Amino acid sequence: MKRWPSLVLSALLLLPLAACGGGDTGSAPPVDSEENIHTPQAPSGTNLPDPSEPVSSQEPAGQEETEGEHILIAYFTWADNTVVEDPSSVDVDATTSASLLAPGNAARLAAWIQEAVGGDLHSIVVEEPYSSDYDECLDRAAEEKVDNARPALATHVENMADYDIVFLGFPNWWYTLPMPVLTFVEEYDWSGKTVVPFVTHGTGGLSSTIRDLTAALPEDTAILEPIGVYRPEVDESQAAVQDWLAGLNLEF
Ligand SMILES: Cc1cc2nc3c(=O)[nH]c(=O)nc-3n(C[C@H](O)[C@H](O)[C@H](O)COP(=O)(O)O)c2cc1C
Repeated sequence: MKRWPSLVLSALLLLPLAACGGGDTGSAPPVDSEENIHTPQAPSGTNLPDPSEPVSSQEPAGQEETEGEHILIAYFTWADNTVVEDPSSVDVDATTSASLLAPGNAARLAAWIQEAVGGDLHSIVVEEPYSSDYDECLDRAAEEKVDNARPALATHVENMADYDIVFLGFPNWWYTLPMPVLTFVEEYDWSGKTVVPFVTHGTGGLSSTIRDLTAALPEDTAILEPIGVYRPEVDESQAAVQDWLAGLNLEF
């Protein structure tokens, strides 16, 4: 059964959006219709990099070891936060399989960022996986938002002090960040760091994601221009990601 905003709980969740009127949501529903949802598939010739592999470098010989060492690309994606008992049973054409199989949309954007600027990848993973059932995942995410929960994380960055640029990616969940991203944010000292958000979303656009991320970070944290990628356009978005990176005028 298709269901997005529904029930009283959903009405509660809608209030902040109506109140803020920000982002690029307009009066559109928060996500696109299920007909527009498709399972993410890596573009041909592109594989999600293995974080354990050395960072690729286009710098002159001798600089390979240092390039990207100060960049962290952290991301939350549903596919890394659920368990699919039998992946072969997932109908890749089924609308509800969106983001269910790795790499998730945020992971794909993260991989393209790493390909362009180097750095280390970190997948934010909760201790208690979300359901692979779309509606159940929605329900838990909604409850966590209402409760302002901080789901415990299973993965952690041991050397956060080493990074001065942190790309932070996530999907729009119920008009805002998935709550585990706030757990992640609150776990570290962001002093002196530059945060670069990247968001993937349905028709809700960025909604309140950047506002809520900004509120969660210390006031003196530099937060650069985010990119938001509409999920049906993820397949073709690598060039847009590269253009966005170039426009940040960061020295990598
Ligand atoms: C629990 C849940 C809540 C969502 N809420 C919204 C929303 O409020 N607005 C929106 O535009 N998209 C929403 N989406 C769609 C996701 O933002 C979109 O599918 C995204 O590309 C998924 O990225 P991922 O593959 O990295 O998880 C939601 C998806 C899920 C699973």
